[in-house]
Amino acid sequence: MSIEQGAVIRRLPVEDVDVFRRIRLEALSHEPFSFASVFSDWAHLSDHEWCQHLDQPVFVALLSGQPVGMMGLRFERARKMAHRARLVSVYVRKGVRGTGIATDLLHGVTEHARNRGVLQLELAVSAENSAAIHFY
Ligand SMILES: CC(C)(COP(=O)(O)OP(=O)(O)OC[C@H]1O[C@@H](n2cnc3c(N)ncnc32)[C@H](O)[C@@H]1OP(=O)(O)O)[C@@H](O)C(=O)NCCC(=O)NCCS
Repeated sequence: MSIEQGAVIRRLPVEDVDVFRRIRLEALSHEPFSFASVFSDWAHLSDHEWCQHLDQPVFVALLSGQPVGMMGLRFERARKMAHRARLVSVYVRKGVRGTGIATDLLHGVTEHARNRGVLQLELAVSAENSAAIHFY
């Protein structure tokens, strides 16, 4: 599928843990200042730990079957906070930015969150990250 046709957005099942690993490590290595996590910590995770991260929803954007972006959701465990969730791991590959992929990912994520009873999405962003601030 080309950029013109739009990306396919879908939640990754645990069977697609390699797709998750590929796009997450790409994000951390290409944009080290955009994330709290550090590439070398994630590069050393075991297969089991990578799979565990998919217990919480991770959505990817696919172009021609290849991952070019991702977005994750973290639900709160406490029952009184079940109406809240955090948006995490927001990333789109440089060459396809500005084409609406982050917007499409956010639609997929918010629809999923709403269906789970979430009323409030929260996020953190660096004050210098003007592209992300504009997007949010
Ligand atoms: C932030 C990021 C995810 C945006 O992805 P994207 O696919 O280019 O975003 P979209 O094309 O869907 O654009 C979404 C909105 O943000 C705006 N936007 C995107 N990049 C922008 C930029 N560099 N400057 C200003 N506005 C920008 C778009 O104009 C659009 O606004 P509109 O709806 O009013 O037209 C992408 O730049 C990225 O991956 N950055 C590196 C990682 C990162 O910073 N992640 C966030 C960590 S908190």
